[in-house]
Amino acid sequence: MTSAPDAAWRALERHRTELGTISLRRLFAADPNRFARFSLVLDDLLIDLSKNLITAETLSLLVELARAAEVEAWRERMWAGERINTTEDRPVLHVALRHRGPEPVTVDGRDVMPEVRAVLERMRAFTTEVREGRWRGATGRSITDVVNLGIGGSDLGPQMVCTALAHLARPDLRVHFVSNVDGAHLAATLARLAPETTLFVVASKTFATQETMQNAASARAWLTDALGEAAVARHFVAVSTNEAAVRAFGIEPDRMFGFWDWVGGRYSLWSAIGLPIALFLGFERFEELLEGAYAMDRHFRTAPLEANAPVLLALLGIWYRDLLGFSTHAVLPYDQRLARLPAHLQQLDMESNGKRVRRDGRPVERPTGPIVWGEPGTNGQHAFFQLLHQGTEIVPCDLLAAALPDHGLEGHHDKLLANLLAQGEALAFGKDEATVRAELAAKGLSGTALEALVPHKIFPGDRPTTTILFRRLDPFTLGRLIALYEHKVFVQGVIWEIDSFDQWGVELGKELAAGILPDLAPDAVPKPRDSSTTGLIAHLRRLRAGPPG
Ligand code: F6P
Repeated sequence: MTSAPDAAWRALERHRTELGTISLRRLFAADPNRFARFSLVLDDLLIDLSKNLITAETLSLLVELARAAEVEAWRERMWAGERINTTEDRPVLHVALRHRGPEPVTVDGRDVMPEVRAVLERMRAFTTEVREGRWRGATGRSITDVVNLGIGGSDLGPQMVCTALAHLARPDLRVHFVSNVDGAHLAATLARLAPETTLFVVASKTFATQETMQNAASARAWLTDALGEAAVARHFVAVSTNEAAVRAFGIEPDRMFGFWDWVGGRYSLWSAIGLPIALFLGFERFEELLEGAYAMDRHFRTAPLEANAPVLLALLGIWYRDLLGFSTHAVLPYDQRLARLPAHLQQLDMESNGKRVRRDGRPVERPTGPIVWGEPGTNGQHAFFQLLHQGTEIVPCDLLAAALPDHGLEGHHDKLLANLLAQGEALAFGKDEATVRAELAAKGLSGTALEALVPHKIFPGDRPTTTILFRRLDPFTLGRLIALYEHKVFVQGVIWEIDSFDQWGVELGKELAAGILPDLAPDAVPKPRDSSTTGLIAHLRRLRAGPPG
């Protein structure tokens, strides 16, 4: 028997075949209202889908697929606190962290909101104390530098937000993020800091992650060498779900900010993992970020699928990945402050939807999550845009920008926006052979010289972009934007029938690294392994033993 999603997939496959070559030039020529028809406005947020390789029928068939996959029911199951992260047997409730309404959010019949609010209040009190200089270090000096020690979701989200909103921070309280177990990262950071005025936030959901625990131990040694053991109490706080491990590290529960197992690492910046954000920008700004996400949550939960921003972005991704075979997706913020957004979305999307089996263990039948990558414009234009315009891969791109800057420099922002608009236009409509010939002839070229250049100067076009514009990059807008992508990933996971909330694929490397570690010691007798790994270990040991002779 054909299931509803199967029928919807088939209809899409037929439609894709019928469409044949999709020409954006033709689609725009045929419909003068294409921009209005295919764009979405949420307050000051505009999402222009018109330069995508779709027709009205494509969208309606995609929406049917979402309906057939029961996206609405799954969305409600998430909000109801059901254990939709099946392989870890956990609810998925990051939406509770930014829930601002009076309604309860329940897990197993228990309202989690009082606990969520209690942690937020403790964050407010602590961050205010630090920012007002009332929280003193061991020698009585106030804090000037906060160092977040965390990795993955305990690093990328808060770092991205702090980078994006640094224009709202005070110059006398700086924030640093150390994630890599490569000691070069911590060493370079500590070299610029004074123990007396530094506060470490050890951020780890599990409080067991090798990188973070190593960095925390080294930071602790750096501090205690200078100020003694007793100083740890004034210079270390923890953010975790694992109270016992935090205590074992030497941080008392009154300096620990908790969260819950129903918050996935890559969805955790809204929890106490956002502590560095609140320290850097102030708690009110952090609340504005939550408000922005809450606004997107309400939109996602209430808007019809046809006009639902995360749903439409998700469906476009499905169209490109599964029907047109595009394997990557670029996020190109025309905003230097959003330089870390691609990295955050990489974890969000690729750790969530990089899956090869369905919730029930059967292999997926279609490609799942794309490779997500990106850089700010205009930098990318001078690096990899060549491939976007004339390469053999088609890369759907998101172009993002604020209408207004938050700096006072004349002459920059219009150029930035002109570039964004120009790239969208060039990617969509390209430059055809006739135009190329006419341009070369106008420059005085003819004959073989002209013929030799023509193919190189043609831009095929029909390279899709989604443009996302907003008035300013403020905490509310950023919160709304991040939540937009979170729900996009959720909807895709539902349609692909995968568990978007586990990450078993990161475990094998961790296990093997633990086994290899002792074999790197100079006097170790390495365990037998494949010849490549064995050879590499032997070579490393030789290199580390010193120069030959
Ligand atoms: O290794 C992947 C991962 O588990 C991510 O999912 C997570 O965000 C990161 O490690 C850090 O984990 P933790 O916060 O427990 O240190």
